[in-house]
Amino acid sequence: MEEQKEQLAVAMPRIGDAAPEFKAVTTQGDINFPSDYKGNWVILFSHPADFTPVCTSEFMTFASMEEQFARANCKLVGLSVDGLYSHIAWLRTIKDKIEYRGMKDVEVKFPLIEDITMEVAKKYGMIQPNEDTTKAVRAVFFIDPKGIIRTIIYYPLSLGRNFDELYRVLLALKTSDEFGVATPADWRPGDDVIISPAGSCGSAQNRMEGKKGDMDCKDWFFCTKKINEDDIMKKVLKK
Ligand code: BEZ
Repeated sequence: MEEQKEQLAVAMPRIGDAAPEFKAVTTQGDINFPSDYKGNWVILFSHPADFTPVCTSEFMTFASMEEQFARANCKLVGLSVDGLYSHIAWLRTIKDKIEYRGMKDVEVKFPLIEDITMEVAKKYGMIQPNEDTTKAVRAVFFIDPKGIIRTIIYYPLSLGRNFDELYRVLLALKTSDEFGVATPADWRPGDDVIISPAGSCGSAQNRMEGKKGDMDCKDWFFCTKKINEDDIMKKVLKK
């Protein structure tokens, strides 16, 4: 068992790395990743197994939000270490039979990767052997239009993801890129954003002497400014 765990403990990609490349069979045909997605944001996410309840609730939620993510130029790609026919049967069952929290007749149109060999799951550190040696954890990789990993979130098998949070992360990453700002705790579009800290003693002094332009400074290192929600959404949707 320990030896098996060691074999599964591969180097994991990190924030700022190029997304590892792979070719895969999916429920929407073959894909070359990430090259097929150049110019788009992508959320690559794994789930432990088909025909399981938490995963079913997650897939129904993500599929229901697919258009919302698409409007922000973001495509979704799922993965589990099950085979293609299991994936197809599960997605058919979801559409035909499962009604959950007002969602029904839900068609999962985004690709679901088959990864029986665990090749992709291992490349992305989705198998975390002390959690489970045969199932992927709930990993979420946000990959930007240049193919760079920008955020990674992991959840254990028992914990369903918060998809509003995943959407918030996407908007925050795009807002940082578009406006050159950072986003504070619990930020949502329309809330004040953070200006980078003063880079010199002179600008720190200016900030404390009131020469702050449109900034609101709590101290020389902590300044915020307003960007209204419409301006943010105009920039971050469809780009
Ligand atoms: C689920 O999706 O329900 C699940 C999958 C694997 C382990 C525990 C729960």
